Amino acid sequence: MLRHLLIVLSLFALCPLGKFFKLSLQWAIYDTDPQTVLRKLGENSTQEPYKKAPITYYNTNPPSYIWDGLMFRIKTRRGEELSAVKAHFDPSASDAPERFLWNQEVDGNTIIPDVPERFRCVWDRYGNDISFACQIQSLLAGRKELWTDEQVRFAERCQSVTWGDLVGFGLNPNPKWRLNVTGHRAVMDDVQAGLFHLMELEVKAFKYEGEEVYQNISTYLGERGIVLCYKQEPKTVRLFHAIGYDRSYRLV
Ligand SMILES: *[C@@H]1O[C@H](CO)[C@@H](O)[C@H](O)[C@H]1NC(C)=O
Ligand SMILES: *[C@@H]1O[C@H](CO)[C@@H](O)[C@H](O)[C@H]1NC(C)=O
Ligand SMILES: *[C@@H]1O[C@H](CO)[C@@H](O)[C@H](O)[C@H]1NC(C)=O
Repeated sequence: MLRHLLIVLSLFALCPLGKFFKLSLQWAIYDTDPQTVLRKLGENSTQEPYKKAPITYYNTNPPSYIWDGLMFRIKTRRGEELSAVKAHFDPSASDAPERFLWNQEVDGNTIIPDVPERFRCVWDRYGNDISFACQIQSLLAGRKELWTDEQVRFAERCQSVTWGDLVGFGLNPNPKWRLNVTGHRAVMDDVQAGLFHLMELEVKAFKYEGEEVYQNISTYLGERGIVLCYKQEPKTVRLFHAIGYDRSYRLV
């Protein structure tokens, strides 16, 4: 643990571009539906989403891995199905895999080319919590196993996983809208689970301006009467709460 922490600290010390790391600012929204949010933001509430591809979350049933920040999902990108394994790390006690932290490309959104699988890391901010998350996405391309060896190794660096116990929760419709919020490009995303609309607004910002943008947009959303969730947390966590599960199903 200490070794990993030192690696994280040295990364920041060594990387002069540290302040240009991108942050993904997120607001978990509690309003009834996307049309209500669009209307409150002064947008055309009947506008079509730019993207509609559904998403399926995987976990044990009842869900156990999610509570430690480990997520499994199947989604569609440009018409192609892919599987994704994502892990959240607490940067103050970072146990993030070294290979990600050592990679100078870890600036938030860089896609490392020339690999069959896509590695992606972001700094996520929900409320006052900032965490570091990495994921491996891999096109299914007719493959029988949902999870590749690389994804399995990655997940198991965080926690041992009983892969055969993972079941799908979904299919959840997941429309997204592009918005312009106080001059910032934003995406509103709605995961539909039965009657629930788990909505989120995302704005990408450079780290050095992150706090200012976060405060600016939070104030604006308040002025517009947008109802934010009492607890600001990722959609997958909200989904499992919404369907009646909590941390009591945690395995470790
Ligand atoms: C709102 O969006 C709908 C659906 O795309 C469109 O038909 C309508 O013309 C738009 N209204 C305005 C005021 O832009
Ligand atoms: C957002 O809208 C404002 C005002 O219409 C415009 O000046 C600005 O360029 C837009 N920003 C983005 C990122 O689209
Ligand atoms: C947010 O920033 C915009 C653009 O700089 C500014 O016009 C607006 O007043 C700010 N809003 C708040 C609530 O700080």
